[in-house]
Amino acid sequence: MSALTKNYNRRKIAFKKGKGSFIYATDGKKYLDFVQGIAVNSLGHSNPHLIRAMNKQAKKVWHVSNAFIIPEGEKLAKRFAKKTFADCVIFQNSGTEATEAAIKVARRYFYSIGQIKKNRILCIKNSFHGRTIAAVFASGSKKMIEGFGKKVPGFDHFKFGDFKSLKKSITKDTAAVMIEPIMGEGGIKVHSSYFLKKLRKICNQKNILLILDEVQCGVGRSGKFFAFEYAKVKPDIVPIAKGIGGGFPIGAVLMTKKVSAGMVPGSHGSTLGGNPLAMSVGNAVLDQIFKKGFLQNIQKISKYFNNELNKIKKDYPKLIKEVRGVGLLIGLQLFNDQTKFIKKLQDNKLLTIRAGENTIRILPPLNVKKSEMNLAIKIIRKVCKEL
Ligand SMILES: Cc1ncc(COP(=O)(O)O)c(C=O)c1O
Repeated sequence: MSALTKNYNRRKIAFKKGKGSFIYATDGKKYLDFVQGIAVNSLGHSNPHLIRAMNKQAKKVWHVSNAFIIPEGEKLAKRFAKKTFADCVIFQNSGTEATEAAIKVARRYFYSIGQIKKNRILCIKNSFHGRTIAAVFASGSKKMIEGFGKKVPGFDHFKFGDFKSLKKSITKDTAAVMIEPIMGEGGIKVHSSYFLKKLRKICNQKNILLILDEVQCGVGRSGKFFAFEYAKVKPDIVPIAKGIGGGFPIGAVLMTKKVSAGMVPGSHGSTLGGNPLAMSVGNAVLDQIFKKGFLQNIQKISKYFNNELNKIKKDYPKLIKEVRGVGLLIGLQLFNDQTKFIKKLQDNKLLTIRAGENTIRILPPLNVKKSEMNLAIKIIRKVCKEL
């Protein structure tokens, strides 16, 4: 009997070791892991570069708190400032802390310029921004808020891709619109470049900040460092997590200098956020992702995978409704519930995970090999045949 609470519906499988795209269960079975800790292990299991960075730092200093300067964090923040839209960064420990901090940054910005009432956050109905009490009310999903008491105020909602609904939901008190460029948990639903561009324009016109939640789709997963780069828009605030830690818990909020104005000493904090161990691993992840050709390779290899999945879809038009996604954030949407399909894939030694709208999420590591993709394709085709 487990002494853990039952808030997770865990599969009856545990692992003893992993290497790259593969993971080995305690019963000796070898799986192709296209879950990778839910888009977290961006460089696969047991990446030697990450292990080296972690071991090196572990022998020096693990934790000091943000009462002191943390050189590894200074370095990581500077790399973001050099390579992305951002001028500055706050480090956290998880995605939901990053989205919460993003909300706080937006509200504090308007507070700092005397617009105290401009503090409402507009999100997509039934979206996903994490599980803290504010983040679940940001999502507006009945399932996630049920039983958690009085509504956290300050959140409004609009319908995915619907400008009419968006415009209707904006008030003079709207401080920020927060959306995922690609909705991961929601079923790999991709916002078009047209939508993101127009959204940016509306935000500019109405003096509203744009928060793009790249916790799942960011840090190379889409084939660009940020998914919003495809639309050529510039956000104000971007929470990230998952992939930047490569398996180590890291969250971060990237922002422009302008919106960081409210983040004066004492306005926000985290005991563990940005600790030396986490920052060393984060820097090691960026070493790989910023390597010449790394992101281009994701674009190339994901195109191949997408084509192959579409061939399967064509052969099984009554089973597969749509192949969704960008880069290596891939969704296979079925006509019916996906539970049985995922189980069959697992029985055939391929691990995948569910998302909304009957979608199977396929999340290989970003350094996945073509041979591993071919193995996944073979297994998916076999399962389609069986079903
Ligand atoms: C878009 C998005 N935001 C926030 C979160 C929350 O991240 P975490 O589970 O690390 O708190 C997730 C997690 O799946 C996510 O996909």
